[in-house]
Amino acid sequence: MRKAIFITGTGTEIGKTMVTSFLALALQEMGLKTKIFKPIQTGLAEESSSFADQYWYETVMGAEKGSTGMYYMEPAVSPHLASAITNTPIAPHLIKNKIVELKNQYDVVLVEGAGGLAVPLIETGHDFYMTKDLIQECELPTVIVSLAGLGAIHHVVTTVSYAEKHGVDVLGFVFNQFDASNVIHVDNVRTIQKLLGLPIIAKVPVFKHLSRNNLAAFVQAFLENHEQKSLFMEGLSIEV
Ligand SMILES: Nc1ncnc2c1ncn2[C@@H]1O[C@H](COP(=O)(O)OP(=O)(O)OP(=O)(O)O)[C@@H](O)[C@H]1O
Ligand SMILES: [Mg+2]
Repeated sequence: MRKAIFITGTGTEIGKTMVTSFLALALQEMGLKTKIFKPIQTGLAEESSSFADQYWYETVMGAEKGSTGMYYMEPAVSPHLASAITNTPIAPHLIKNKIVELKNQYDVVLVEGAGGLAVPLIETGHDFYMTKDLIQECELPTVIVSLAGLGAIHHVVTTVSYAEKHGVDVLGFVFNQFDASNVIHVDNVRTIQKLLGLPIIAKVPVFKHLSRNNLAAFVQAFLENHEQKSLFMEGLSIEV
């Protein structure tokens, strides 16, 4: 299939890494060779000397060491600032080349962004090269990860409006830490769907303990529900 999808969010720490892991496990379960790529990583994992997302993908998800990233910068700040502080020039064409290379080796490549769409990656003379510019340059459709609680409607609507303004193709949403017994969560998802008419690809619950096994068990149950599975496939434009 040779497809790459950009996973962004309505903010940082919203669950892009958890949702990217969920998507990868679900796609693999459906028989698709899937690769996770996080080109720009900033900020170290608390309990280790490696980078937070890299640590999760390699240690918990079992990704091959050193295979998930490209630019690693220690300061937990916006990429453009981390790049300046650490004197690490970011070259978007190298990220694009890597995505093309991975697309030739895998059925699906999931590219996790840093923060959201309006995150500056490079400071240029009079301007900034933003995450949305990288998405356009790499010609990637996007999935937006959001929480479902109070504030989610505003965050999703403004993110989609920014995406539309800049010609970024939004496939749909994944709601993270969704609680089906929470009336706000349920109504927010309904309202967002009615307002924007875009697919709800999945709703991922809160995990009491975050582990690959718990994610995999959720994926198993998720795919056993035929309606959920077909919404997932339609939303991601996946064929198997
Ligand atoms: N479904 C979930 N269940 C339980 N905890 C979660 C869930 N999703 C996220 N978390 C918690 O929130 C933290 C942030 O999630 P995650 O790392 O996926 O966010 P992110 O959007 O990738 O952040 P960043 O912008 O730093 O890349 C996780 O370390 C985890 O502790
Ligand atoms: Mg992350």
